Amino acid sequence: MNEEHSQEDAVTVTGLRYAFDRTGTAVDGLDLTVRSGEVFGLLGPNGAGKTTAIRCVTTLLPVPAGMVRVFGHDVTTDRMAVRRLLGYVPQQLSADGGLTGRENVALFARVFDVPRRERADRVAQALQAVGLAEAADRMASTYSGGMVRRLELAQALVSAPRLLILDEPTIGLDPIARTGVWDHIMAIRAASGMTVLVTTHYMDEADQYCDRVALMHQGRVRALGTPRGLTDDLRARLGGDATPTLEDVFRDVAGSGLDDQGKGGEFRDVRRTRRTASRVG
Ligand SMILES: Nc1ncnc2c1ncn2[C@@H]1O[C@H](COP(=O)(O)OP(=O)(O)O)[C@@H](O)[C@H]1O
Ligand SMILES: [Mg+2]
Repeated sequence: MNEEHSQEDAVTVTGLRYAFDRTGTAVDGLDLTVRSGEVFGLLGPNGAGKTTAIRCVTTLLPVPAGMVRVFGHDVTTDRMAVRRLLGYVPQQLSADGGLTGRENVALFARVFDVPRRERADRVAQALQAVGLAEAADRMASTYSGGMVRRLELAQALVSAPRLLILDEPTIGLDPIARTGVWDHIMAIRAASGMTVLVTTHYMDEADQYCDRVALMHQGRVRALGTPRGLTDDLRARLGGDATPTLEDVFRDVAGSGLDDQGKGGEFRDVRRTRRTASRVG
């Protein structure tokens, strides 16, 4: 990696649009820059377009050239280079309950071309980094929800990506498991200096762990900044002794549309996640 590259932004998204069909546009003119080394949160209620945007960045959805770059590589014209640079934990379950933790991670090591001689060590290191060294040789079907999520984190880490992309890493987990997942993400990031792009609809997590956040609603970024900067701005506008949270900032920029969309969606998503979890467990 040369000097020029290390200064480069991790992700640049310019005017990204994505429509699944003629009736709806999931991402509608998205502009976004993730700086190298930061933890960047893409926040928004269910249906905001977070997963669609993430899948464009990971090369899983086709986009016109020039809209999305990862460390300077265009996701459309330089797809394999982009794939080598990133680790991805999808929103939906990606671990196989019929394999052990170690076998699951080894599978990803093979798929991502980790050199054969290094594989066993790298798999063990990834499992260690997420606190699964002890449980590594148990079937994933015996893992708790939080352990499954940490296993998926190990899968994404085994290729030593420069950019780790996590889509709702803590959805459907209890508060203790959520903290466990975040503690591991932050420790790995501190040790490796990797860039983290994470989506979540839990505003409190974003407030606590993200350097900068983008608030996304109906396919677009409505506000962007540090959690502190965004809440301070709203406090200044409200005056008095208001102590707004990120959620209040969101309500302020998204208006009333947020309530209807957020709640129903959240329950649907949690149910879906639990169904998937019980299939594994
Ligand atoms: N495979 C799909 N086919 C059709 N519409 C989709 C598909 N995936 C997502 N959508 C729609 O695109 C919009 C954005 O969804 P998504 O990107 O999953 O949002 P989020 O991740 O923020 O919850 C929603 O209106 C959703 O219904
Ligand atoms: Mg999503």
